Amino acid sequence: MPSYSRLLVASAKGGVGKSTTALGLAAAFARKNKRVLLADLDITSRSLDMLTGASDRTVRDIADLLTDSAADIRRMCTQPFEEYPNLSFIAACSPDRLAGLAEKYGVRENTLIREAVIRLLSYGEYDMLICDTGGGCEIPAAIADLFGFTVITAEQSMTSVRAAEYAASRLERAGALQMRLVICGFDLTSVKREKRAGVIEMIDRCALPCLGVVPYDRKLQKAQDNGELPDERSLSAMAYANIAGRITGVETPLFHGMGALYRRRALAL
Ligand SMILES: Nc1ncnc2c1ncn2[C@@H]1O[C@H](COP(=O)(O)OP(=O)(O)OP(=O)(O)O)[C@@H](O)[C@H]1O
Ligand SMILES: [Mg+2]
Repeated sequence: MPSYSRLLVASAKGGVGKSTTALGLAAAFARKNKRVLLADLDITSRSLDMLTGASDRTVRDIADLLTDSAADIRRMCTQPFEEYPNLSFIAACSPDRLAGLAEKYGVRENTLIREAVIRLLSYGEYDMLICDTGGGCEIPAAIADLFGFTVITAEQSMTSVRAAEYAASRLERAGALQMRLVICGFDLTSVKREKRAGVIEMIDRCALPCLGVVPYDRKLQKAQDNGELPDERSLSAMAYANIAGRITGVETPLFHGMGALYRRRALAL
């Protein structure tokens, strides 16, 4: 399997597009007919069950991987989107449940998360495993070496850029491979009017190769509120399709297919 088939999404900061990116990439790869397993490893602020509209259907979660080693992983997953039966999702467990298991087995919670990832990796029936994590580096650092590819997200604020830079150095020490930056919620007008960071300044400050820029997309937020995927032709879906392509080695211009952003790319940079 190629290294990108084990993909971790992380950042040292909360609210910087990690879950949106994990789901956006999962959908983009599913559209490329890959069998995708999306796992939520954000224990304290899990959100993917809601973003996928699967919260009513997720009766089992990653804690079940730990309590029932013989259990069939397939039965712990849901297929949240009818049109993509090749996209499976496994939910995060509650913090209390993880803490209870850690106490029961006398191990650290991070050790349990690592064990859960190892079980997911041993499950053969997917082409891509994409794991979302919460803000902070503790859990990502405990599992980073198990992945072949790590996406670090940042939005335009300087605090999130600093968090991306910190995550990159922390995860490199933890054995992460192929770390790449994805810039989320990029707003061109704020570069112009408020003199916020442009793409090059962000890349420069993070010192990470950049995989892509996801424009600020109002329709994405509406879709997330309804637990739906944004339209395939929406700006954000187009950006994640480009990024998924680049992950697999397809060379695509930075703002390919992104309308006004493509035409005004000189300003964005
Ligand atoms: N391209 C985008 N356009 C518009 N809004 C976006 C975009 N990307 C992310 N957002 C919004 O930013 C907010 C944070 O995104 P998200 O939940 O993906 O971040 P996170 O890093 O996973 O946060 P947490 O650390 O809390 O898990 C959400 O409200 C999401 O809708
Ligand atoms: Mg999240």
